[in-house]
Amino acid sequence: MEIDLSAKVWDDRYKNNDIGWDLGEVSTPLKTYFDQLENKELKILIPGGGNSYEAIYLFQLGFKNVYVVDLSKTALTNIKNRIPSFPENQLINGDFFDLNDTFDLVIEQTFFCALNPNLRTKYVEKMHEILVSKGKLVGLMFNVPLNDHRPPFGGNKQEYINYFEPFFEIKKMETCYNSFGNRKGKELFVKMIKK
Ligand SMILES: C[S@@+](CC[C@H](N)C(=O)[O-])C[C@H]1O[C@@H](n2cnc3c(N)ncnc32)[C@H](O)[C@@H]1O
Repeated sequence: MEIDLSAKVWDDRYKNNDIGWDLGEVSTPLKTYFDQLENKELKILIPGGGNSYEAIYLFQLGFKNVYVVDLSKTALTNIKNRIPSFPENQLINGDFFDLNDTFDLVIEQTFFCALNPNLRTKYVEKMHEILVSKGKLVGLMFNVPLNDHRPPFGGNKQEYINYFEPFFEIKKMETCYNSFGNRKGKELFVKMIKK
């Protein structure tokens, strides 16, 4: 599938404020999940985090080892401008697939669906690579078809099980009960542990 999802395309969307996915605040299901996390030392990654209100929320809760990787420099600058004390080295302007580090917890939200679907196996393998032993992948995944030729690309629970099961123990993959706004009924809350 020929789709231009280059860094420039994504960065231009932030520059032009063409960011329909952006909730403008931490999403309810992730906030609820974060609020019950006790270990503030966790090293957490939010890939394709964009303006990442989630990273900001975590940082302000006292989680200091929070990292965002995103192709868009503009999005990362927005985070730094909102929270000047957010460490620069934890805002990684680059490609998720080039990461060379490990994390205890990775948070998924509208990143998987933003990637060309032909990268899904690679996504699962990369997640497995960057998580520590028994590390967790937690977040939200659309459970509706969505678009064929541009993001967001949808999917369904059975498809995700097929991708993840070889690499992860699927602890939870259920319709999210507290989705933000019009995402209600359209997304799964997932919690998977690296095998
Ligand atoms: C649909 S947006 C979602 C942003 C954010 N997760 C949110 O919920 O607001 C997808 C994000 O992934 C980023 N992105 C796409 N491909 C990427 C890649 N290969 N590596 C890192 N970031 C990427 C884009 O720049 C964009 O910020």
